[in-house]
Amino acid sequence: MNLRKAELRDVPALSELISRFARERVVLPRTISDLYENVWEFTVAEEGGRVLGCGALKFYSQELAEIRSLCVEPGRESHGVGTALVERLLDEAEAYGLKSVFALTLVPDFFRKRGFHQAAREKFPMKVWRDCTSCPKYSNCDEKAVALDLAERRARRTRRVPRAASQPPAPVLST
Ligand SMILES: CC(C)(COP(=O)(O)OP(=O)(O)OC[C@H]1O[C@@H](n2cnc3c(N)ncnc32)[C@H](O)[C@@H]1OP(=O)(O)O)[C@@H](O)C(=O)NCCC(=O)NCCS
Repeated sequence: MNLRKAELRDVPALSELISRFARERVVLPRTISDLYENVWEFTVAEEGGRVLGCGALKFYSQELAEIRSLCVEPGRESHGVGTALVERLLDEAEAYGLKSVFALTLVPDFFRKRGFHQAAREKFPMKVWRDCTSCPKYSNCDEKAVALDLAERRARRTRRVPRAASQPPAPVLST
């Protein structure tokens, strides 16, 4: 499996994957024109040239982004594709210098296992204003908000990879 940024040629596959779950009201629908406009938000997982998963990072501010349109092809679940996509999107969020990433989801446990915490939806009013108010589930929404602090993620990673005892100390740089 290979992870890469989506390209324009991926839009038909993205549309098919997302539409399938949108029909089940698991993710929000995305129109073809929306996908062409925002294809750069997407990362795809592919195998043998076939897209088998996707996820997008939507920016809301200098500090905050949302993971959305996260989908893994039916029949390919539980093979680590979703996790790999989330980790790649979090790496991307870090590279942009963001502070936190959230998701509104029906699978909060999947995100909790990846270090996200449950959060109050009211913390993300711009999401509610942008997407939720036009969603058919608005008055009866069953999705949970989850969020991850990227500084905590970095700290967890540092704790997992202790400096080798034999490794020389990092040089002190004078300014
Ligand atoms: C949710 C989804 C992205 C997970 O992708 P995946 O490739 O199956 O996930 P992975 O194989 O990386 O991870 C599997 C882990 O997540 C957990 N998991 C997967 N789907 C889950 C679900 N629906 N509810 C709770 N936990 C779930 C599994 O128990 C497993 O846990 P483990 O790591 O302790 O074994 C995928 O099932 C999917 O596309 N679902 C439909 C669309 C959707 O709900 N997207 C999320 C929108 S925010």
